[in-house]
Amino acid sequence: MSTTEQLGSIPHGGKLIQRQVDREERDMYLQTIANLKTITLNSWHLSDLELIANGGFSPLIGFMGKSDYTRVVEEMRLEDGTIWSIPITLDVEQTQAETLEIGDQIALMGEDNEAYGVLDLTEKFRYEKEKEAKFVYGTIDPAHPGVKKVYEKGDVYVAGPIRLLQKKTNNQFANYHLDPVETRQLFRDLGWKTIVGFQTRNPVHRAHEYIQKCALESVDGLLLNPLVGETKSDDISAEIRMKSYEVILDKYYPQDRTRLVIYPAAMRYAGPREAILHAIVRKNYGCTHFIVGRDHAGVGDFYGTYEAQELICEYEAELGIQIFAFEHAFYCTACENMGTEKTCPHDRTYHVHLSGTKVREKLRNGEDLPKEFSRPEVAKVLREGLRR
Ligand code: ADX
Repeated sequence: MSTTEQLGSIPHGGKLIQRQVDREERDMYLQTIANLKTITLNSWHLSDLELIANGGFSPLIGFMGKSDYTRVVEEMRLEDGTIWSIPITLDVEQTQAETLEIGDQIALMGEDNEAYGVLDLTEKFRYEKEKEAKFVYGTIDPAHPGVKKVYEKGDVYVAGPIRLLQKKTNNQFANYHLDPVETRQLFRDLGWKTIVGFQTRNPVHRAHEYIQKCALESVDGLLLNPLVGETKSDDISAEIRMKSYEVILDKYYPQDRTRLVIYPAAMRYAGPREAILHAIVRKNYGCTHFIVGRDHAGVGDFYGTYEAQELICEYEAELGIQIFAFEHAFYCTACENMGTEKTCPHDRTYHVHLSGTKVREKLRNGEDLPKEFSRPEVAKVLREGLRR
């Protein structure tokens, strides 16, 4: 067994965290929940709560306290030195923070008034939004959707270990909703020793397919892991994206070497830093390899095309997951093939590439997408989805 296989199968920080309660414990918590102070979670918080509880965010056991938070923001490390790139925090307004006392057990409610978890409050602290924006997103520009989110948050972070009482399930994706314990078991059952994880927030196009399949040539299995938590409003919905994967998997992917599982997180658009978080989470799901292509987790022109690759590759050994870095991929009409500048000798006039904006524009106008860019089955799903 290679070093990567051994490292990849080990969760980040050494142990897969489990903070989900069983039915008996849940009943116990629910009996006392009416007496607890409450915090109402938005969909972003709920995604984080689930990923802490199911071990996707191992080694975190709760929302970050000040020492972890500060070191993550400034140095990309938890207090104990473990590499971690994005703060995982729970914000409240100052007025609410004043009503909460250290030592309180707090009920974490959804906007639907359901109890999703409990938090044992160990700390509350104010933080500097511009500093968080600058370090984590590399900009303080509110036009950046992740930075905008930071500015909209409450002024105080509340911290402490959590328990998850129930997941915010999206029944549409029930068949694809697996926890890291389950994906790890799945990989064992399939006999996969090396697994490449693929993060995505966009509908699948030919360049995605190309880099996924290039990677699959070198490993046993491919985990397609689309992010289905909150995304910015002009991104294509998770429902349509998942449907586009269903149709393409059916026709163009090897059934015994590919699995589709949702990644329930919210999208930060933090480019290089988010690529590191994405890799850590996929390692926790049991992947040994992770794909980072062009402008991973980027938005607009905030990051350079290969900035995410450059940062993550610096930390690859320490992360314990092998990075498959891909250059910008396209269809070349002269090669009559997919490729990148590494493999194709022709100039740009031969290359078919469409930006996300261009794709949406074409679809809204009812135009076809070139088959060199998108499989026709996917284009059909997108056209129908956007028409609704
Ligand atoms: S992301 O925000 O989740 O990164 P997207 O779903 O578009 O956006 O990308 C998923 C993965 O595919 C990322 O690793 C990204 O870098 C990579 N990728 C997307 N398009 C291309 C392309 N044309 N060439 C190479 N890699 C790409």
